[in-house]
Amino acid sequence: MSFHSFGPIIPNNEGIDTITEILATILKLVIGRGGFKPIAQGYFKYTHQFANADNVSFSVADFREIGKQMTYYTLADASKGVGEFMKFERGKEWREVSFELEVGKGGYVGSGHLTRSPGTEASVDR
Ligand SMILES: *[C@@H]1O[C@H](CO)[C@@H](O)[C@H](O)[C@H]1NC(C)=O
Repeated sequence: MSFHSFGPIIPNNEGIDTITEILATILKLVIGRGGFKPIAQGYFKYTHQFANADNVSFSVADFREIGKQMTYYTLADASKGVGEFMKFERGKEWREVSFELEVGKGGYVGSGHLTRSPGTEASVDR
């Protein structure tokens, strides 16, 4: 998994809350649909809306138009990978980021983004 195109800061609690909810959501999909099943429509998007009107979104799309499909297990790895990257590589500083996903030696299977829409400027945590 590779990360690039870093953007504005995401408050730590918003990043953690978003990834935690995503992992729970994906766990249900893994159990309900099967971890090795390709993700529906080749696309997954989750937006966490916070009480202060901030929205943090995580979106992933696979490369099925070139024959690369992403499974629900890969989707789970992607969300876990984003959380671990922010925690360990970036010293717990969360930022907007884009990323590429690869599986084994199969090459890249998809890409994604973590983005934030601040509700109000006053809610930006600096
Ligand atoms: C957050 O999402 C809600 C619901 O879709 C929307 O009404 C609101 O405008 C969004 N806020 C921002 C800052 O984008």
